[in-house]
Amino acid sequence: MGLGVIKSYIYSFAARFSHIALILGLAISYLLSEFDGLLYFHAAFGVIFGVAIIFRIIWGFIGTKYSKFSDFKFSGLGGYFLSFFSKKEKFIGHNPASSIAIIIMLSLGFICVISGLMLYGIDENSGIFAFLYNNYNELKFVKSIHEVSANLLLIVAIIHICGALIDKFIHKNDALNSMITGYKLTKNDESVKANLAQKIFCLVWILAIIAAFLYILNRDNFILKSHALKVDYSSQNAVFAKECGSCHMLYPPFLLPKKSWEIMMANLENHFGDDASIDEEANQNILNFLLANSAQMNSNKTAFNILKYAKNDQNIAITQNEYWIKKHRKIDEKVFLRDDIKSKANCTACHKDIQNGIIQKSLIDYEKIKRF
Ligand code: HEC
Ligand code: HEC
Repeated sequence: MGLGVIKSYIYSFAARFSHIALILGLAISYLLSEFDGLLYFHAAFGVIFGVAIIFRIIWGFIGTKYSKFSDFKFSGLGGYFLSFFSKKEKFIGHNPASSIAIIIMLSLGFICVISGLMLYGIDENSGIFAFLYNNYNELKFVKSIHEVSANLLLIVAIIHICGALIDKFIHKNDALNSMITGYKLTKNDESVKANLAQKIFCLVWILAIIAAFLYILNRDNFILKSHALKVDYSSQNAVFAKECGSCHMLYPPFLLPKKSWEIMMANLENHFGDDASIDEEANQNILNFLLANSAQMNSNKTAFNILKYAKNDQNIAITQNEYWIKKHRKIDEKVFLRDDIKSKANCTACHKDIQNGIIQKSLIDYEKIKRF
């Protein structure tokens, strides 16, 4: 039951299409954030959600009557909630609760997508904000903004859904149906009719969401692609590569603080139970190289946290650093002893390209850790 008996066309196809795109974009990306190893797809659906948000915001200014922010009703929210059990006032467009929820969701969604893209740059050296990668120090709070806005958004979305369901099943209104069919029953014919410019905008809008979806399936897209450059340590310092890469993988120097490298290089004859000693000149050469590229000399996320968690300044093992321990806590000790891994110190078994100085979640072999 609506306001009357005339079927009025209230929500255009583009508005309804974007409503679905917003719902799916949010739901899928939120769900994917729970799975390790699906970070890329989490980000990809976040981008689609972002595209839907931008078009919906523009439509709020240039769209048809009931989609416009200027048509939203903000007053009477208290009365709207108070009339919960009585006969409710009917609205042709959005009611006060929906109006407020939409504004809050679009704002939170926008913040969530932007902070997500920033985080993808800061943590993963990927995407349009990859230039932020070496600024972890100043930007570590972005993660909290992303998580808080995502969770608030989910809460408001759930309240909005509950409202829509109450409206439909308790108050027997047709607002929910109208988001699918476009029609509401009204007293007079209130139908909206898009002008040519609006129609063209709608077409672009729908194509943009479809295009974003297809474009993002290819990981090499400019919005999310990795900007990490492989460092070739052997060409930077051949002595380091030869002497320190003969028994185990080559550890990127930013994985330990200066002090640790100094202690290690002063005790090579007693190196984790092995004698790794080398002549004085080579030792000095390697030490200089390690110090010049140590955790202090880098400002990416890993280096920042290695320093922050370097509680014991006598420690020389990366795997004894509290940050390393914290990040690998969830992995069963037995996994590290498996034949295809052998040791915690064998980072390459799980982290592709780590020997070239690249540490990204999207390069971790999560499947390998699950296999027993
Ligand atoms: C003679 C063999 C040998 C040589 C040469 C050698 N290492 Fe090692 N290194 C070891 C062994 C064995 C371990 C312990 C690995 C493990 O725990 O599985 C180790 C561990 C390490 C670790 C700690 C890994 C962890 O547990 O976090 C670092 C860092 C390291 N080596 C750096 C170097 C550097 C720098 C050089 C060159 C100066 C070097 N190593 C040369 C044998 C060697
Ligand atoms: C058995 C597999 C395995 C080995 C071996 C391993 N890691 Fe990891 N590492 C992981 C997994 C899985 C994660 C992700 C944990 C998560 O999702 O929070 C991780 C996370 C990390 C992170 C944090 C990444 C981020 O952005 O949050 C760093 C840094 C890291 N590892 C460094 C190392 C180094 C250095 C070594 C070798 C000394 C190493 N890892 C050895 C599996 C491994």
